[in-house]
Amino acid sequence: MIAMIRLRPAKDEDMGRVIELERLCFKHPYPPPVLYMLRGLYPELFIVAEVGGRVVGYVSAVVRRGGVGHIVSLCVDPGYRRRGIGRALMEEVERRLRGLFEVRMLRLEVRVSNKPAINLYQSLGYQVVERVPGYYPDGEDAYVMVKPTRGKGNTLESAEL
Ligand SMILES: CC(C)(COP(=O)(O)OP(=O)(O)OC[C@H]1O[C@@H](n2cnc3c(N)ncnc32)[C@H](O)[C@@H]1OP(=O)(O)O)[C@@H](O)C(=O)NCCC(=O)NCCS
Repeated sequence: MIAMIRLRPAKDEDMGRVIELERLCFKHPYPPPVLYMLRGLYPELFIVAEVGGRVVGYVSAVVRRGGVGHIVSLCVDPGYRRRGIGRALMEEVERRLRGLFEVRMLRLEVRVSNKPAINLYQSLGYQVVERVPGYYPDGEDAYVMVKPTRGKGNTLESAEL
């Protein structure tokens, strides 16, 4: 665990670093206009993690039909991994999705080979409900993982996925 992780919505001046992180983290990064669009849609769900004044990770989510919170992207600078930053970002975006948007279900997609991320999501309570063949641009399959939020009647079956 790291002593001080500061979590806050991204500001305009963070976006250059977010674009850089996206390129560091993913083989097929989201292009900058997509990242700006995601932040424009749900600024309170586009969150950066700061350590010692440096942005070292971010998470982005949107709200979909049927009360589903969709985590679209999560990434931590390779030099800052395994220190609890990914988990802290996920917990913060989940808290905001539940508190601000009252979502019934959380959803995300992950590469079937992405063991670190799958471990993280499972440890947070997500379950694999579907495998989508050829979901990624290079042809790799995705797992769809979901987690009901706490609340009466919030079950895997109750939300439109
Ligand atoms: C996935 C990712 C965000 C995790 O970030 P992180 O800050 O290293 O994660 P944390 O330190 O909070 O780790 C939380 C848990 O995730 C799992 N985990 C993280 N890295 C792991 C690894 N290399 N191998 C196995 N499990 C791992 C562990 O269960 C870990 O808990 P533990 O440290 O108590 O064992 C980071 O590896 C990353 O940015 N990867 C590239 C981008 C990516 O794949 N994003 C997800 C796309 S769906």
